[in-house]
Amino acid sequence: MFFADRVQDIKPFRVMEVLSRARELEAQGRDIVHMEVGEPDFVTAEPIVEAGKKALTEGMTHYTQAVGMPALREAIAAHYQHQYGLDIDPRRIIVTPGASGALLLIAALLINPGDGMLMTDPGYPCNRHFLRLVEGEGQLVPVTAADHYQLSAAKAAEYWQPNTVGALVASPANPTGEILSLEELAKLYKEVQGRGGYLVVDEIYHGLTYGERAHSILEVADDAFVINSFSKYFGMTGWRVGWLVAPEAAISELEKLAQNLFISVSTVAQYAALAAFNAQSREIFEQRKTIFCQRRDFLLPRLRELGFDIPHTPAGAFYLYANINRFSDDSQAFCLEMLERHGIAITPGVDFGAYQSDQHVRFAYTTSMQQLEKSIEVMTKALSYG
Ligand SMILES: Cc1ncc(COP(=O)(O)O)c(C=O)c1O
Repeated sequence: MFFADRVQDIKPFRVMEVLSRARELEAQGRDIVHMEVGEPDFVTAEPIVEAGKKALTEGMTHYTQAVGMPALREAIAAHYQHQYGLDIDPRRIIVTPGASGALLLIAALLINPGDGMLMTDPGYPCNRHFLRLVEGEGQLVPVTAADHYQLSAAKAAEYWQPNTVGALVASPANPTGEILSLEELAKLYKEVQGRGGYLVVDEIYHGLTYGERAHSILEVADDAFVINSFSKYFGMTGWRVGWLVAPEAAISELEKLAQNLFISVSTVAQYAALAAFNAQSREIFEQRKTIFCQRRDFLLPRLRELGFDIPHTPAGAFYLYANINRFSDDSQAFCLEMLERHGIAITPGVDFGAYQSDQHVRFAYTTSMQQLEKSIEVMTKALSYG
């Protein structure tokens, strides 16, 4: 059989391989500590589940508008008022099948064959694959701890190419948890806009910051694109609902694309998502955020003591991106050994790019404190005796 060339360039998620091997080992009776999974371990909050059930019982099983139910778009707009003091016209909000659906819409909207977009290396791997799907390319900008693993205006200028049409960043970022300050966002926006490009900011980990809140690009720019989702802070990964905030001028083109690509997002999931904004749900999310923060504060110093190099305390998300130079120069082999010999599942850096990826691994603290404690005990033995 012959498949399109693009398929060769779209790489699998190594983390899924780690996960399936971990499951195999569990089936053989091994205990595994899961720190590879990029989703909250908590199940969806009760008020949301109830709203989903009610929608089903009441027969809400038909398509909705391609851009999402008006009530949900309004609720998302109200969320911007509540969280950021921003007045966003609900017409600019397009409900999508997760942030993934929003990324696909953006790629389809902005990229002509041969166009490129700047993105950080390390970064969320699907981004470059979405661009490849529409015959564009992710232009990877190597970033280090000194850059807080983020794309600065200076680096955007340095790496901009004749075929670059914009930059796509995430704040907080996967796999590093690092954020862009309001000032950095403003500078980056100015640089990109000055070059006639688009700035796309993935704000999927907003809400999950453990000090100062993350700023939205919409606080400084009305014509940037924002990607967000109910997956992470709102704990709804499996429901598949996200959203896009688009500049006014892009709304009708995005609507056309959404109609053709998805028809609409799951109706039940949209009704469920509406309940994510009530006070009871918020309280649950805030409690969970406190738990994530406690886990980070437990894990980070202990990993450092063990010899993992994590130069900054990440401000958000639920990841720690650690340099493993002290133990190995092959992160895939290191992760394999951690899993096979010690029952610790973590993700090799190669999932997130090429730059120094052999020297890094990602820990996700999406498991209980008890499991994290166990992982430290196991790693203490494993890494001190080689
Ligand atoms: C930075 C980033 N963007 C987008 C996504 C996709 O999320 P969703 O479940 O909303 O499609 C993820 C998932 O891990 C992510 O880490």
